[in-house]
Amino acid sequence: MAATHIALFASGLAVLLLLVQGSPPGPVVQCRSGNTNCTVTNGYGAFPDRSTCRVAAVAYPSTEEELRLVVSDATEKQQHMKVVTMYSHSIPKLSCPGGPSGQGLVISTQRLGRSVSVDMATSRMTFEAGITLRALLDAAAARGLALSHSPYWQGMTLGGLLSTGSHGSSAFGKGSAVHEYVVGMRLVVPSPVPVNGYYAKIVNLGEDDPDLLAAKVSLGVLGVISQVTLQLEPMFKRSITNRVVSDVGFEQTISSYAVTTYYGDISWYPSQRRVVYRDDIKVPITTKGKGVNDYLGFRAQPTLVGASLRASEERVEATGNAEGKCVLFRLQVDTLIATGMGFKNNDGGLIEFTGYPVIGNQSDMQSAGSCLRSPEDNLLTACGWDPRFAGFFYHQTTISIPFTTISDFIADVKKLRDAHPDALCSTELYLGFLIRFVRNSTAYLGKTDDVVAIDITYYRSKDPKQPRLYEDVFEEIEQMALFKYNGLPHWGKNRNVGFLNVKNKLGAKLAKFVSVMQKYDSNGLFSSDWTDAVLGLRGKEVVVQGDGCAMEGLCICSTDDHCAPKLGYYCRPGEVYEQARVCRKIKSVEADGLAWSA
Ligand SMILES: Cc1cc2nc3c(=O)[nH]c(=O)nc-3n(C[C@H](O)[C@H](O)[C@H](O)COP(=O)(O)OP(=O)(O)OC[C@H]3O[C@@H](n4cnc5c(N)ncnc54)[C@H](O)[C@@H]3O)c2cc1C
Ligand SMILES: *[C@@H]1O[C@H](CO)[C@@H](O)[C@H](O)[C@H]1NC(C)=O
Ligand SMILES: *[C@@H]1O[C@H](CO)[C@@H](O)[C@H](O)[C@H]1NC(C)=O
Ligand SMILES: *[C@@H]1O[C@H](CO)[C@@H](O)[C@H](O)[C@H]1NC(C)=O
Repeated sequence: MAATHIALFASGLAVLLLLVQGSPPGPVVQCRSGNTNCTVTNGYGAFPDRSTCRVAAVAYPSTEEELRLVVSDATEKQQHMKVVTMYSHSIPKLSCPGGPSGQGLVISTQRLGRSVSVDMATSRMTFEAGITLRALLDAAAARGLALSHSPYWQGMTLGGLLSTGSHGSSAFGKGSAVHEYVVGMRLVVPSPVPVNGYYAKIVNLGEDDPDLLAAKVSLGVLGVISQVTLQLEPMFKRSITNRVVSDVGFEQTISSYAVTTYYGDISWYPSQRRVVYRDDIKVPITTKGKGVNDYLGFRAQPTLVGASLRASEERVEATGNAEGKCVLFRLQVDTLIATGMGFKNNDGGLIEFTGYPVIGNQSDMQSAGSCLRSPEDNLLTACGWDPRFAGFFYHQTTISIPFTTISDFIADVKKLRDAHPDALCSTELYLGFLIRFVRNSTAYLGKTDDVVAIDITYYRSKDPKQPRLYEDVFEEIEQMALFKYNGLPHWGKNRNVGFLNVKNKLGAKLAKFVSVMQKYDSNGLFSSDWTDAVLGLRGKEVVVQGDGCAMEGLCICSTDDHCAPKLGYYCRPGEVYEQARVCRKIKSVEADGLAWSA
């Protein structure tokens, strides 16, 4: 059985390499009538708790003046608001307004996507906040300018990626978080008393304004970001070589790798016992090369192939065939490596990947996302996670751990891996553990240390009550990263438990953030139960207790009912990190009970 699926998948990959079509993502706001009575979702079509977000209306301002009117009208009515972006790529329930369900307003930045101005003398450009990363990079490149760092995916907007602290990978200079390169911002914020007839005002934050430290990374709770000025630099090139080696001892060299490789990152495939180093450096613009990063995972996938891969994933999950999963995903990783991950040496060339290094302009190498740009083809092809077909569906645990303890963390994960060699295959369909670097920040919700940000992506069932293979190992790693190593969550990813105790981890920085928030939005119109819970305000909690809650990361189990006792999953301590409480599959409870108490 496994063999047929592998063959199908391998031939699917061949098809995938030839296709250039694709359906762009569908709308995240859908309304019953015109722009009223709407539901809001994210790019995956599901929030972590799978709740539905209902709002009274959506507004599509196309100028700052219209935006001011929208915020003013809602403020006068004391209506809760949130910004929603073109594709809404964050996993947590960030885009849903607070207040009573169905009565809030979402303000789309879809029509606020222009470049506003450029200052060539200082290499600075100002953009409207709804501009997508792809459009921003193109507009800058047209002036010979480059954004020093960015996330790897082009579908997010400037306002959205800043609001969650998004980043690429670098331990050099100010590091890889885009907000480090923000030198000005304009916000539209509520005004409880009218100013010139508006219940909204425009705040213009200059480079040295301390409030900018709150506005750079804000979870959208200060008001609407209207415009952002970025410090860019003259265009340069990057030279990228992917290097595959054994994972023996690699954790000891993460720090030295980070300080010697400008844009380096590491994909660790724990069950395959190998790591892929992305040796990625800055080279002069005069270096020969027209390379492009068209990462395979962000190309339009034939939906038939995507659905059949997902069906195989579901089948190995349902039959408990972890080994089958390992075989299937190892082949996938081999194919990815052999095809250069989707790097093209010469954009437009007939043969895409001819070998390393791949050298190209920063704007062509720093991110990818061709599945966004392809013409509508009735879902013949689409981004791999597009919820309109039965493709990828996953959890993403993204936690950053200080450089000082990263090797201990990896060593702990290796202990779990050695005890359960097949357990982590689940991650290997999705780049394994993707390891990137981010510097400490003066932004209040930015990183408190120089950190290693780790993305762990793994199977999520469509059925929230269904456990995954090696549920316990994944939960233990998540809790270890969060509590033993005091990791900070990525604001735009993670399951609910990722945000436990954030208030204490950020300490005084969080208090400073909250005071700026209260200054700009004293009535909390841009706050919601979710942002309150994350920031530790008004007694709101990120966890949701209930039967089976631990399996979706809505809680940490403290009783068996939080797991799935009927399916054989019980709440037990961790194996390496004993303080962890995880849902473990146990063949016989009596036998285990004895073992546990012994
Ligand atoms: C395929 C994929 C790859 C990714 N790769 C990376 C990566 O390499 N690195 C990384 O760090 N992250 C990555 N992410 C995460 C992503 O960068 C964040 O989730 C980002 O916040 C998404 O931006 P968005 O424009 O879709 O914003 P949304 O998710 O729609 O919004 C995020 C928050 O910002 C608020 N907001 C948005 N715009 C404004 C505005 N103008 N004013 C006020 N508030 C606003 C929203 O209300 C919401 O609260 C990836 C996500 C996906 C789906
Ligand atoms: C909104 O749509 C729902 C679902 O169709 C409907 O039940 C409800 O009455 C509508 N509400 C308003 C205010 O129109
Ligand atoms: C790379 O950038 C340079 C400088 O802006 C530009 O002249 C050149 O056309 C770009 N190359 C490609 C392949 O786009
Ligand atoms: C960041 O860390 C460096 C040392 O690595 C330190 O000198 C600097 O003050 C720190 N900056 C912030 C904003 O914490």
